[in-house]
Amino acid sequence: MRYKLFCSPKTLAAALLLVTGCVAPSKQVPAQQIPSLKDAFKNDFLIGTALNVAHIQERDQKAAVLIPKQFNAATPENIMKAEHIHPEWGRYDFDMPDKLVEYGKKNNISINAHTLIWHSQMPAFARRMQSVDSFRTFFNEHIKTVAGRYKGKVQSWDVVNEALNEDGTMRRSPFLQKLGPDFVTEAFRLAAAADPQAQLYYNDYNNEQPAKRAGCIALIKKVQDAGVKIDGVGIQGHWHVGRVPFQHIEESIEQYAALGIKVAFTELDIEVLPRNFQGADVNQRMQDNPGLNPYKDGLPDSVQQQLAKDYQQLFELFLKHKDKISRVTFWGVTDGDSWLNGWPVRGRTNYPLLFDRNYEPKPAFYKVVATKRK
Ligand code: XIL
Repeated sequence: MRYKLFCSPKTLAAALLLVTGCVAPSKQVPAQQIPSLKDAFKNDFLIGTALNVAHIQERDQKAAVLIPKQFNAATPENIMKAEHIHPEWGRYDFDMPDKLVEYGKKNNISINAHTLIWHSQMPAFARRMQSVDSFRTFFNEHIKTVAGRYKGKVQSWDVVNEALNEDGTMRRSPFLQKLGPDFVTEAFRLAAAADPQAQLYYNDYNNEQPAKRAGCIALIKKVQDAGVKIDGVGIQGHWHVGRVPFQHIEESIEQYAALGIKVAFTELDIEVLPRNFQGADVNQRMQDNPGLNPYKDGLPDSVQQQLAKDYQQLFELFLKHKDKISRVTFWGVTDGDSWLNGWPVRGRTNYPLLFDRNYEPKPAFYKVVATKRK
């Protein structure tokens, strides 16, 4: 007896493989069935992301759907940094930051403004300035004008970014050299005057590491002792797969909270590619070599699983201390957006976030959401 095939032999073979379980079905989950991070953690802390220009202008159409579904907080990745918002003496460019504020309003996303005082991505005119008086005028005017523009419109400000060295001493930035060590306190005083409602944060990387943390605690106490408002500390959270410093992070949450301030994780990503230094100094670079980009054709399963495990453990820790944590922000929406594709070596393929290059949730995403089900 002969049977007539109702489909091509190739399709039949594929169907047989699927039903016998020899081939995993496509991992793509229908969009309605994908859980939402912001909903999962709604009683715990805000869930944020970093936005680039294409996100803000809603030119990235897949991101335009994904962002409001997954996130209730956002930080501009670049557009509020001084070199963009204050490109020339007396000239400010508020176009894109205004759009960001509108975008936040429309999508119920609270904005963490980033950042007022930082030695990197400074405008050329300020970098070249020799006169202390002119530099002080730039410092005062910049904070007053920028924080004043967004008064009542942003939820928080990273007032000062990365003022510390790894040993906890103050970085020899133009701010320290021209204005002296009190510039941090002054920046907070000016920001509080310009926008009394905004939550004011000091932000840094590696400030969960003991020596830098001690310097950070001293710096925060100094601001508090001057009677100046400071509401929180941002731990950037640029970590490496398999080497997330969980114990230092937990000690830091406890010690910072003991100062009476909130802790935010402000730029979270867990990179998977080789590095020969720790930290996130944007001016530091690594010499390129062919071995530094091992996963350009895909992430091996073992690394994917380790990444998922690290994210799970991290969120378990965050939940344990949710009373002390105001926000957890990822530095980018998908792996394709991540700055770690271009830093500290250009042109690499990195996988540090919860959504892949196709805007699909990764195993780490599901592990993070599952921490709520325990
Ligand atoms: C990075 C951006 O992601 C890049 O697009 C830019 O080229 C350099 O800066 N610490 C910070 C962030 O506070 O502002 C940095 O963002 C990453 C390190």
